[in-house]
Amino acid sequence: MNLRQEIDALEREIKRFLDSCDTLEALDQLRINFLGKKGKITLLTKRLGSLAKEERPEAGKAINRLKAWATEALETRKEAIKTALRERQLQKEWVDVTLPGRRFAIGREHPITLVSREITGIFTGMGFEVAEGPEVELDYYNFEALNIPKDHPARDMQDTFYVSDNVVLRTHTSPVQVRTMEKQRPPVRIITLGAVYRCDSDVTHTPMFHQVEGLLVDRNITMGDLKGVLTRFVHLMFGKDIGVRFRPSFFPFTEPSAEVDIQCVICKGKGCRVCGQTGWLEILGCGMVDPAVYGFVGYDPEIYSGFAWGLGVERVAMLKYGINDLRSFFENDIRFLSQF
Ligand code: FA5
Ligand code: MG
Repeated sequence: MNLRQEIDALEREIKRFLDSCDTLEALDQLRINFLGKKGKITLLTKRLGSLAKEERPEAGKAINRLKAWATEALETRKEAIKTALRERQLQKEWVDVTLPGRRFAIGREHPITLVSREITGIFTGMGFEVAEGPEVELDYYNFEALNIPKDHPARDMQDTFYVSDNVVLRTHTSPVQVRTMEKQRPPVRIITLGAVYRCDSDVTHTPMFHQVEGLLVDRNITMGDLKGVLTRFVHLMFGKDIGVRFRPSFFPFTEPSAEVDIQCVICKGKGCRVCGQTGWLEILGCGMVDPAVYGFVGYDPEIYSGFAWGLGVERVAMLKYGINDLRSFFENDIRFLSQF
């Protein structure tokens, strides 16, 4: 093969490689193989010296043309590969900006929060102030100072979670009555809202629930005041048409005592699983503060009298929204919670 033929053969070879070359790495390898220090075209240049003198200029020009052409062809291919890579990247990262966005579900307030706020609003509207007390409570405040001594059978009325011998998870909000009276002289007019704990679970009982305690102590307070305040509350909460009844009951810290029932909204008073077939659901316990409790806080029962109540917030929410299982408040099923 003479030099002329070799140049043509190299050109064909480069063209063939160029066609199958589709990465920048392969292209660089191609450049090294042909145009590098030991590349085929470079080696060809080195052979010029072995040609006859008159053949050299012609051959030199031909090799230079080949070199210029190859350099240019490689450069063109390089741009084409780069463009293709960019295209592929754009395809991969393509975003349809006209698609509707993913919506975040907007949170709702828990039904217990809603009802708590409504209850608080009704009583503060009547002039009650909001007091607070701890959930982890001394036995003294939860029981003793409420006229429930150790070994008193009344302790069995509530199944207590004990933290230690003298410390309990409060079983009701009534300890806040004692804590408030210890700090303050009459007149006292407070409510307190918070979680309480009992070892209890069925359709109308959960191990943690909320109560709103109320306490009013002043001169000349009677059972008539108690009935008036609580009846007014029920009417504001449920409307004037709902059935309400005061039923005699017993609490060691009130005398006389009562419980308030509301007509069951689930069965409209006919009797169902929720109201235990009675047509009524208990929402609160109440009574005139027992003089024994005044003894623990240094109030004179000859001068002062008062009443107190403890209301079940979940029971109120249940009746308000017609919910037939109290446990659904605490399952955090979003389908349930988003209805309110
Ligand atoms: C008491 O807890 C008394 N401290 C109430 C009281 C306060 C009486 C002040 C007198 C003076 P009782 O255990 O009945 O009482 O509970 C009061 C209310 O809490 C009940 O009427 C009911 O509505 C609610 N309740 C009681 N146990 C549960 C429970 N496990 N789950 C949900 N609600 C409950
Ligand atoms: Mg009760």
